[in-house]
Amino acid sequence: GTEKLFKDKTFLITAGPTKEKIDPVRYFTNRSSGKMGYAIAEQAAMLGADVILVSGTNTLPEPRGVKVIHVESAADMYDEVMMNADKSDVIIKSAAVADYRPKQVFESKVKKQQGNVTIEMERTKDILFELGQKKKHQFLVGFAAETDNIEEYAQNKLIKKNADMIVANNVMEEGAGFAGDTNIVTIFHKDFSSVSLPLLSKKETARRILYEISEKLEDEHY
Ligand code: PMT
Repeated sequence: GTEKLFKDKTFLITAGPTKEKIDPVRYFTNRSSGKMGYAIAEQAAMLGADVILVSGTNTLPEPRGVKVIHVESAADMYDEVMMNADKSDVIIKSAAVADYRPKQVFESKVKKQQGNVTIEMERTKDILFELGQKKKHQFLVGFAAETDNIEEYAQNKLIKKNADMIVANNVMEEGAGFAGDTNIVTIFHKDFSSVSLPLLSKKETARRILYEISEKLEDEHY
């Protein structure tokens, strides 16, 4: 049956969001609730995988049978993902990771002052890109949260990030993307074939993504 689909496979999954500190009382973050990543982690575990979930700060309960590593910033997530990448067979980057962080983190609270303030931002490391560069045996899955030109951006990401699969969601669509319990995704494969899923719960979306992965693992003998 499907119960043991991922027996003997280790999955490394990330869930959002990241938080980037400004000072001891303020940070930049994004609208990710972590639900998509947690649903994938939970379903992968139910299908027999050993699951390591690197999770940003959110309010979700830890999924049963999953090893959860809690992180705050994009830099923390980078460290934990890199530390666990070699032992993983499948890596799924469902976290919404900050692309920028404050260049300077203030050690004490920034006081209110006259007029405007400017916070200079610097790039964070692109975890998915680096995984693609270092990849050996792993099956690498990225997400793409887009507001337009989904197909073009997703295909570009597949190539640029050296990923095996990109799951794209149009975050402008009702019922898709951040925070809710449903999603609408299109799965893009390396051979440029794609599968568009209808509006589904994040749980069912997770199961469909995992079945797509399992078929590819069989084809390509990962
Ligand atoms: O958490 P939920 O509320 O359930 O919402 C789900 C979701 C919308 C967050 C999820 O479905 C999703 O789309 N996650 C990826 C969001 C995102 O950051 O997309 P992106 O297009 O900015 O990034 C593309 C890919 O690069 C992602 O796999 C991301 O994890 C990765 N990335 C991005 C930046 C960075 N510094 N390092 C990365 O690895």
